[in-house]
Amino acid sequence: MEPVSRRKMLKAGGALGALGALSVAAPAQARSAWTWSPQGSVAGAGAGVDPRWVWDEEADPLVASLLDRGDAPLVNQLLRTWTKNGQPLPAGLPADVRQFIERARVLPSWVDQGKLATAVRFNEKRGLYLGVLYGLASGMMSTVIPKEARAVYYSKGGADMKDRISKTAKLGYDIGTANAYQPDGSMIVTAVKTRLAHAGVRHLLPQSPDWAEVAPEDIPISQRDLMVTWHSLPTTVMRKLTDWRVPIPAAESAAFLHLWQVAAHMLGIKDEYIPASWSEANAQAAEVLDPVLAPTREGNALADILLGLGKEIDAGLLSKPILGSFTRFMLGNQIANWLQIPRDLLWDTLLRTSWGPFIAVREALLPFPLAPECYWLFDEFLRKLALLFLSEGQSINIEIPLGNREF
Ligand code: HEM
Repeated sequence: MEPVSRRKMLKAGGALGALGALSVAAPAQARSAWTWSPQGSVAGAGAGVDPRWVWDEEADPLVASLLDRGDAPLVNQLLRTWTKNGQPLPAGLPADVRQFIERARVLPSWVDQGKLATAVRFNEKRGLYLGVLYGLASGMMSTVIPKEARAVYYSKGGADMKDRISKTAKLGYDIGTANAYQPDGSMIVTAVKTRLAHAGVRHLLPQSPDWAEVAPEDIPISQRDLMVTWHSLPTTVMRKLTDWRVPIPAAESAAFLHLWQVAAHMLGIKDEYIPASWSEANAQAAEVLDPVLAPTREGNALADILLGLGKEIDAGLLSKPILGSFTRFMLGNQIANWLQIPRDLLWDTLLRTSWGPFIAVREALLPFPLAPECYWLFDEFLRKLALLFLSEGQSINIEIPLGNREF
């Protein structure tokens, strides 16, 4: 008898229907336990199903149908004019798309406007650090998250990393604006469009022979993968800010978490997987993010492109060796070595010895006149990098991909 193929079962039963089949047939190395309890989530309860076998039951069939019936280009074109959260949807959208977006654009019942207002203050105060951390800590970390690196590399967007960075930076930009989730803001639109883009990737990537050859999973971007990437963003940023001893009042720290909890919900992540507190987030990250980090050929290729992008924009200050040194400093030697980032004697030493005091000076924890020359260089670097990663995001449009990368 022919052995049971996970791919065949998925085709026959649909993603969720194959849940049982997958847990039987999944290779052992892909099955680290899911022990994180839904009691620690914003929902406070849930079935506790391993999110590795949960995707997006609403968006996935819709976008698969749009791609199959040839409506995706029209939907992309029409949605280009939908840019503000409170804006009515454009006329002419297929009824199923309209119904989906009208549901998907509604904020969760647990949204706390007070916390969102506090988050604005946090983003204003910490915008420079956030730009650098989203760009270098989260962005470079994504290249050592194997499933994400491979999904990006083999998807259409992997062929033009500059464009992809701008699109991803849009989310970082929108979430940091004062009106992110208000009717005149754009974060709801960006999150819903990203949800549609991810659904497109779930339909398209399994058709890529290049991806299928290297990927351990049958369908990319599970809810577990989404949470892994989520932790590479706010959880990693908060870990770094804490390491750097940047003083953050408890209310601002909780508000920053809330901003990203709402983002997770709007990206289609189920409430039972969204951590309710930083301690729950850290516990979940220790289970799903830290153990999966590893080098891949695809991730290294992406990292190389990312590190080269700075010099296109600023030939001096954002050169590849300097960005490499920052990556080593932020993500540590192991990840830098995986990414084959060469050591840079000057910048590695400068960062190791001066970054801590630099932050202390910036935060007025040390007397200002002691600041040596290199602190101004760091400050200028922060500004340039924040600009590079965050300012590009303003006029960019996120769309449903129409195909995979061709080699
Ligand atoms: C697309 C954000 C998780 C793979 C996008 C886009 C954004 C985004 C803003 C649109 C930009 C573009 O089209 O290039 C996020 C966020 C995540 C997340 C905030 C988690 C909180 C993931 C995960 C994977 C993934 C877990 C893979 C395992 C992709 C791919 C694309 C994409 C392949 C499409 C690239 C293309 O245009 O072909 N994501 N993402 N994402 N994302 Fe994600």
